[in-house]
Amino acid sequence: MALLIRNGEIVTVGARVHGDIYVENETITQIGKNLEAPPDAEIIDATGKLVFPGFIDPHVHIYLPFMATFAKDTHETGSIAALIGGTTTYIEMCCPNRNDDALEGYQLWKSKAEGKSACDYAFHMSVTKFVKETESQLRQIVADGTASFKIFLAYKNFFGVDDGEMYQTQELAKRLGVIVTAHCENAELVARLQQKLLAEGKTGPEWHEPSRPESVEAEGTGRFATFLENTGATGYVVHLSSEKALRAALDAKSRGVKIHVESVLPHLLLDKSYAERPGVEGMKHVMSPPLRAKHNQAALWNALAAGSIDTIGTDHCPFDTKQKLLGKDSFVNIPNGIPGIEERVNLLYTHGVKRDRLDLDRFVDAASTRAAKLFGLFPRKGTIAVGSDADLVVYDPNYRGVVSAKAQHTNNDYNGFEGMPIEGRPSVVTVRGKVQVRDGKFVGERGRGKMLKREPTHF
Ligand code: URP
Ligand code: ZN
Ligand code: ZN
Repeated sequence: MALLIRNGEIVTVGARVHGDIYVENETITQIGKNLEAPPDAEIIDATGKLVFPGFIDPHVHIYLPFMATFAKDTHETGSIAALIGGTTTYIEMCCPNRNDDALEGYQLWKSKAEGKSACDYAFHMSVTKFVKETESQLRQIVADGTASFKIFLAYKNFFGVDDGEMYQTQELAKRLGVIVTAHCENAELVARLQQKLLAEGKTGPEWHEPSRPESVEAEGTGRFATFLENTGATGYVVHLSSEKALRAALDAKSRGVKIHVESVLPHLLLDKSYAERPGVEGMKHVMSPPLRAKHNQAALWNALAAGSIDTIGTDHCPFDTKQKLLGKDSFVNIPNGIPGIEERVNLLYTHGVKRDRLDLDRFVDAASTRAAKLFGLFPRKGTIAVGSDADLVVYDPNYRGVVSAKAQHTNNDYNGFEGMPIEGRPSVVTVRGKVQVRDGKFVGERGRGKMLKREPTHF
């Protein structure tokens, strides 16, 4: 069925116009004023609303065996939570560990999503070791449409790669035109500092941050960048949390290194005092890199506003209270991660745009367009243009609410952003022309989501 969205303020990077959007066969076919529609078309009145391109979360974990447990969402629950929050595409980290076969892992991750997600999705392929068969396996995975890699410099002996493996991954990525995303913390230093703190009897969640201080992240970021400088590959630092690490990335960029930066919602809005709360309340805010001292937030917001932080993702990774308590006797056993897929857009709009930290242009760019461009999805995704997929968010800037675990769709029993104000939310969300969400309710088709095949673009 055709769809006509009437009289909204259409916001894309570089343009804001009042008008109508007409959609047929999943695609935007006309943008203009006073567009006509056949009698059987679905009409949405967007008067007084903003119309954004569907938002893209470039960093989520849905299926994730990690730290003796599994992240809580499935593609059914995670995609519905994403859509209610205005995210119409997510890129999941496919994370087989060092003992797993990469190709089998890739097939497993794909099977978990296929026919289950209500929104479109893609994968970053984690390279967690580099052995004889790795190159041919990665070539097959890229040929299958997964044109980005992920490496972890942290998580020694599980996901983590050594410098030799990092070099081989970047070198292959350069030849294939594939971008390499990286979790940048020095694994050896983390392991040593964890042992030292535990030996001193420091076992609570408040010691997680001191076990992976800003210098450890800055070293990882700088080392990743130095390898990029010497392999010529393009890199993307995930979930950057601190001013020191930011400086390492931007120094490299100023030397001509092809490096991009993602930060994630927790590091913009929460600080390390959340992880210093007693007991399980602190554990709920344990993630890596850890929540930092508050002064880092201003540096991250400023870099985001200037465009030197490219994207805002979530690193969505829900573990419930019972799972967090696996670490009650030692912070090193607290499953690392926090959910956020449902809140990202509304919190970024509220605490960025509404609080004058971010203009609307940069908001759309950071939450949608830049990720589409970096990860080979543009202009199919990440913009509103004739020929683009009709992933559209009709956004009500007058909505008022608060984040609450009780109301969330993510499969978890707490929300790390509990009680934070929301000033705006999606009224209508479409995926390829089909209305999937109306006013906070999922009204669409489960399993509508498709895996997005992407071509390498970083030659
Ligand atoms: O704490 C985090 N970030 N958990 C998820 C795994 C990762 O490092 O992205
Ligand atoms: Zn990570
Ligand atoms: Zn992650």
